Amino acid sequence: MNPEKTVVVVGAGLMGRGIAHAFAATGHTVTLVDTQAQALERARQTIEKILADGVRLGKSSQDDASAALARLHSSSGLDAAPEHAGLVIETATEKMDIKQAIVREAESRFGDDTVIATNTSALSITEIASVARLPGRVIGMHFFNPVHKMKLVEIVRGLETSAQTVAKARQWSDAIGKTSIEVNEAPGFTTSRISALLGNEAMYMLAEGVASAEDIDTSLRMAFNHPMGPLELGDLTGWDTRLSVLQYLHQTLGEKFRPCPLIIKLVKSGRHGRKTGRGIYEYDDKGVRIPNSGVRPF
Ligand SMILES: NC(=O)c1ccc[n+]([C@@H]2O[C@H](COP(=O)([O-])OP(=O)(O)OC[C@H]3O[C@@H](n4cnc5c(N)ncnc54)[C@H](O)[C@@H]3O)[C@@H](O)[C@H]2O)c1
Repeated sequence: MNPEKTVVVVGAGLMGRGIAHAFAATGHTVTLVDTQAQALERARQTIEKILADGVRLGKSSQDDASAALARLHSSSGLDAAPEHAGLVIETATEKMDIKQAIVREAESRFGDDTVIATNTSALSITEIASVARLPGRVIGMHFFNPVHKMKLVEIVRGLETSAQTVAKARQWSDAIGKTSIEVNEAPGFTTSRISALLGNEAMYMLAEGVASAEDIDTSLRMAFNHPMGPLELGDLTGWDTRLSVLQYLHQTLGEKFRPCPLIIKLVKSGRHGRKTGRGIYEYDDKGVRIPNSGVRPF
């Protein structure tokens, strides 16, 4: 098998599914790894749906969709992944210890030429790479949700990331038709830093009773032409992930990133967003938003 066509994605949540689809649909063999069997099952269903929608909309043929699905494999551990993979992308839960453990395991499983990328939204690439024997091969490849629609990949260079790894990461991004930008590591990079601030401020406005969730979202869509309001976006991103990012940015960049207490309450109540069927708004079994549903702080 060709390493340049072989990818391992670790973490089959919201992002892992999208990243696995992006590679499988562009001719790569993909092994998707997750510790939770349920996540792998949901991932396959989501990927099947994205491929079926592509066929229905005339973006790809049924044969191409079937071939993409045949290139996708699932596993509960890295031991079943092909050793010669050219790229491993970890996109597991946004916690430093989880990411470092995956980097350690990936290094023991794959050869020295394998690029080890992390899709962290905000954490330090340098710190994630610090547990590696060869930290030069560790890099940030930050994708956006939903991956099949969002064109950008932020390529994030840690202190030890080699120029060769940066070049390879940009090639991988080109290979799936994305636009890459290069960022020197800083908390939240260029994107999460802005998006976390905006979403947090919207949540403070909701908590203060400035306007309803619907009106806050409508204001950003209509006044600034954002494709989505910040509260809708938080439901899509997942408030648990958003909270982890804010906590890290608060710790590293200061007070302006202090997480709004309403986000903490949402996460405590299991309102993680679309992925749990309830966030600021509520969603039916098909993921369709239920009108007039959701959190009313007042
Ligand atoms: N949600 C977004 O919009 C978004 C956007 C860009 C980047 N990210 C980043 O992507 C990463 C994943 O986010 P998500 O939204 O997909 O989270 P998620 O909660 O939907 O999925 C995380 C998955 O990781 C799995 N996991 C945890 N530990 C694991 C391990 N040791 N090995 C294998 N799998 C493991 C979990 O079972 C879960 O299925 C995070 O670092 C997040 O910051 C998220």
